[in-house]
Amino acid sequence: MNRKEFMGTLGFGASAIFAKGGRSADSVDTLPDYGSVSDDAFWRAVRQQFPLGTDRTYLNSGGLGPAPNCVLDAVQAKTAELQSISETGYAVMDEARPVAAAFLGADQEEICFTRNATESNSIIAAGLNLQAGDEVIFESHAHPGGSFPWLSRQKREGIRVKIFDPDPETMSASVEKIRSLITPRTKVIQVSHLTAPTGILFDVKAIAALAAEYGLWFHVDGAQTAGMISVDVHDMGCNSYSTSGHKWMGGPRGTGIIYIRKDRIDDVACLHAGAHSSTNYELPDQFHFVEGARRHEYGTRNTELVHGLQKAIEFQNAIGKDRIEAYGSGLATYLQQQLRDLPSIEVLTPSDPAMRRSITTFRTPKIAFNEMTSRLMREHRLRCRPVSERGLNAVRVSTHIFNSKEDCDRVAQAVAAILKTV
Ligand SMILES: Cc1ncc(COP(=O)(O)O)c(C=O)c1O
Repeated sequence: MNRKEFMGTLGFGASAIFAKGGRSADSVDTLPDYGSVSDDAFWRAVRQQFPLGTDRTYLNSGGLGPAPNCVLDAVQAKTAELQSISETGYAVMDEARPVAAAFLGADQEEICFTRNATESNSIIAAGLNLQAGDEVIFESHAHPGGSFPWLSRQKREGIRVKIFDPDPETMSASVEKIRSLITPRTKVIQVSHLTAPTGILFDVKAIAALAAEYGLWFHVDGAQTAGMISVDVHDMGCNSYSTSGHKWMGGPRGTGIIYIRKDRIDDVACLHAGAHSSTNYELPDQFHFVEGARRHEYGTRNTELVHGLQKAIEFQNAIGKDRIEAYGSGLATYLQQQLRDLPSIEVLTPSDPAMRRSITTFRTPKIAFNEMTSRLMREHRLRCRPVSERGLNAVRVSTHIFNSKEDCDRVAQAVAAILKTV
């Protein structure tokens, strides 16, 4: 059976027709052109695209990002369309692929849609050929979705995890810490592009160069960067890059992406294989992986979510990736200036603008992080995120495209008010 016949047996011919369905006018079309209105009016218009209620201020895009209305509408419409014919609509994935590839600076065969960043990280952590005693280096601030896939393999197969504390002062210090951990048994370096607890941005190009110098695999966990900053994986020089769709990108919950560099796709074993992984199928032994990273997309999928992710990317493209990056990090700078002026507040996010973007993490010895976070929510309706990792005892504030300077003022005023009571 050839690929065409094989796909035919799965009903793809029919679904391909529906993937081309027209789109109704939506908020991507109704956003004003940047420059045609004042900056304030432009960002207000962006904010109005989100269905966020007004009884709280949402400042946790690093945990879960709200999706704009155009994304929710697109998912709903695609769901209805596919349900009305009871097709999976796999062609929707191939329609979204070039859009996601362009967004990340990749080629489309390098892109695979997953369900979250953890799954993307796991594809790499489980799929690379490692033996007991082989070493993997990553930072001590890695999110469980970045560290657990390796720790699980350490437990199962005896690989060795080595960690370093990311340096908040200079980018080069972290690169040197990684270098000092490399031994002849090192096989992989992984970093979060930007760390989740305190928002430290790594010099991923320098780390890619270091990895190349020693012939190591370099994986970047970009859960905190795609949709927050302008990402170009080819320019970065990594072997693989993961992200979530449901954080800064504003995609539907349960979406993610893994990029694997074209010439290294075969180095990642496809541990979950099924329909869509293979070009042909004839028992007992006719099986050939499809070209490209999409071999990891196996079985029946919720393709309407991937369609929604495509819409989220189009929405961000309409605003402009660089503009999003500058806006979110501008708000963070504005907030940090106010927080630094408050007595006893320590901002843990690097002060060097080159080492941070749209995350602000702070603490005070006067009140525990969980108490501060819950009082911000309970008394001031500010939804931030507690940071318990590595005993940091801090609070994290994410500033994204639907946030405003007024939101930052609210945070600073609320923290000041809470400090007066302790
Ligand atoms: C750096 C990092 N990696 C992985 C994850 C896990 O993301 P997901 O829930 O999409 O698996 C997160 C979530 O916050 C994260 O910040």
